[in-house]
Amino acid sequence: MKKPWGGRFKEGTAKTLEEFSQSISFDRRLWQEDIEGSRAHAKMLCKQGIITEEELKQILKGLAEIEREIKEGKFQFKEELEDIHMNIERALIEKTGSAGAKIHTARSRNDQVATDLRLYLRKRVNELIELTEKLEKTLVNVAEKNIDTIMPGYTHLQKAQPVLLAHHLLAYAWMLERDRERLKEALKRLNLCPLGAGALAGSSLPIDRHYTAKELGFEEPIPNSMDAVSDRDFVLDVLYCGAMLMMHLSRLAEEIILWATDEFRFIELPDKFSTGSSMMPQKKNPDPAELIRGKTGRVYGNLLSMLTTMKGLPLTYNRDMQEDKEPVFDTIDTVIMSLRVITEMLPEIKFNKERMKEACGSGYITATDIAEYLVKKGVPFRNAHEITGKIVLYCIEKGKNLNELSIKELRKFSSKIEKDLYAILTPEGSIDSKSSYGSTSKKSVKEQIRMLRKRLKE
Ligand code: ARG
Repeated sequence: MKKPWGGRFKEGTAKTLEEFSQSISFDRRLWQEDIEGSRAHAKMLCKQGIITEEELKQILKGLAEIEREIKEGKFQFKEELEDIHMNIERALIEKTGSAGAKIHTARSRNDQVATDLRLYLRKRVNELIELTEKLEKTLVNVAEKNIDTIMPGYTHLQKAQPVLLAHHLLAYAWMLERDRERLKEALKRLNLCPLGAGALAGSSLPIDRHYTAKELGFEEPIPNSMDAVSDRDFVLDVLYCGAMLMMHLSRLAEEIILWATDEFRFIELPDKFSTGSSMMPQKKNPDPAELIRGKTGRVYGNLLSMLTTMKGLPLTYNRDMQEDKEPVFDTIDTVIMSLRVITEMLPEIKFNKERMKEACGSGYITATDIAEYLVKKGVPFRNAHEITGKIVLYCIEKGKNLNELSIKELRKFSSKIEKDLYAILTPEGSIDSKSSYGSTSKKSVKEQIRMLRKRLKE
């Protein structure tokens, strides 16, 4: 098959090279955007008097036919034509002859591929933002239902202080809130138009890049033609946002896995979102959460692979950059699927409230509250810490809980201790006593829900 660059060549391309260099097997995903870009480009060429009205009509008709054929699965994608851009251009020329032969005027595949990818990512990033918002809403809803559920909060995976389950879940909602901001930020930098940069230096023809940019819904044309064709920061932004989002989902997934163990028994997983064992009849496994945790590795890999691809590239376009598509498609597909699964699964998880509260009964989880009680009575914090540490040690030796100590026993450690101490030795009392901004108190949690709902509406 004759290549579009055939003029300069005496020999055809080796079959091995065609197989090696093709990208049509994965960049065919960009067909819609490629057609969109060609439409805008052709309209601009006509407006500028570079092609005639009649030629524009033929081009638009040809593009519409190609669009229909692809939608109906009738379009023949050809590996010899390397990529989506040459496949569509060749089909257009076959349909319209010399009109189609003018579509590539003042255009290169270098500005074309960057345009297609920006258009494509704009759509998918908007999808990502929507799905992230949906999960954030779900977290807020589940939190609201658990405003009275008490559980141990952990540091070092050791019981630390009692918290509300709602507070714990809202921590994830705040992560997703940042993810949404990050994605919106990426969207801003993404929404600029490379088209008309040509191969790298622009064109001597009287094109109007501002018109094309506007036609495609971009904010403005990229001001430097060399930057326009060699920049892949917008791909990396998406890969980074995806990696960060997956890291958040993976932490949540890890807690789901942990909480579903017989050792924790904090939650019961829905049958719909669990799998069994082919050999062990009793098993109910948290596979979706494990897959989210596992796929996070791949999504990180995509970010690193693209950073590495770009790191030594001289300006401007280099074929290395064709390697941008598979990782970014994979990251988007993976993050979208993971978001959908976890959003559907989350409201179906049963929280074992009794068990969570019971877990607060051990581990001297209210010790910090004793120290703060003493501070309120005028004891310097460091001394209060020391006194409370001794009380804990005494409990360990006597095999007692903090709230099982008599007032007489307690007063041996500090004469400042009175009966009112017992009120904060229960997990509820400890939580209620929190008064600082952003704490785990019910009031603070309600305030967070209000703040998040307001942001979710914006
Ligand atoms: N398939 C190529 C890519 O994805 C398109 C650009 C090719 N340009 C070139 N001069 N070979 O990057």
